[in-house]
Amino acid sequence: MTSERAARGSLLHLDASAAAADVSVSRGLTALFAAGWRERHPDAHYRYRDLAADPVPHLTAAYARLGYRAERGGTVPVERVASLARDADEQAEWRLTLPLLREVLAADTLLLGVPMYNLTAPATLKAWIDRVNFPGAFTDPRTGGSALRHTRVVLVTAHGGGYGPGAPKEGLDFLTPYLRGYFTDRGVAAEHLHVVTAEMTRAWDIPGLAPLRPAAAESMAAARAAVTALVNLLDADAADAADGAGASHGAGGRSAPYPA
Ligand SMILES: Cc1cc2nc3c(=O)[nH]c(=O)nc-3n(C[C@H](O)[C@H](O)[C@H](O)COP(=O)(O)O)c2cc1C
Repeated sequence: MTSERAARGSLLHLDASAAAADVSVSRGLTALFAAGWRERHPDAHYRYRDLAADPVPHLTAAYARLGYRAERGGTVPVERVASLARDADEQAEWRLTLPLLREVLAADTLLLGVPMYNLTAPATLKAWIDRVNFPGAFTDPRTGGSALRHTRVVLVTAHGGGYGPGAPKEGLDFLTPYLRGYFTDRGVAAEHLHVVTAEMTRAWDIPGLAPLRPAAAESMAAARAAVTALVNLLDADAADAADGAGASHGAGGRSAPYPA
């Protein structure tokens, strides 16, 4: 990442909740982050993608053929993948994939708003991950290392229940560990991966969960504070990178800073 790019910044903001903005907790929290970030980076690139309203198509056999062919050729730079397509279906798959991939590669910061659905990520997000993760796409052709090694990732998750220590559902959160594992496996540095979680969001609607409302309110307040703190943290981070200091203030890999 050049100093100029760091100073200017670029944010790719994805939301995956099926719920509308006035109801969705994850959408509310990502909007809070995006507003703060954009205020601090008025000249920066900002790209928004709503994976629920504008779903990414699931993969087809043509995508799999093209991907396996690319893998057999070693690490194929993204610019050369189109030349590997052998028929119209493969070309169509690549036309769907390349713009999504370019958005990821162009972003200094990825912001993802992710609800927990059935203990894990919504299918809309998984469809996006499956598509952008074309073989070799996150390999920097100049270095052979990860193209995401400087990318900041802010994961905002919302759970209807509680999954922390002592909760009846402790151990059943397959959302945050999955996304944390996915991004670190793709080369995002642990100190660049930030997770904010609001828990027990269903306590407000479900009468039987009413006793959890104080804890839910606490979780929400802590999530909002964590999001605001992250705007400041990443701003300082970008300023350091622009100065050439390259220091990271990230206390990455943090887990939800509030009770379950
Ligand atoms: C299809 C669906 C499945 C859900 N599954 C779970 C679940 O397994 N565990 C949970 O704690 N909450 C679950 N919830 C509740 C959501 O995680 C919760 O409402 C969360 O706030 C959703 O994020 P949002 O407010 O950004 O839409 C589910 C909600 C829906 C719509």
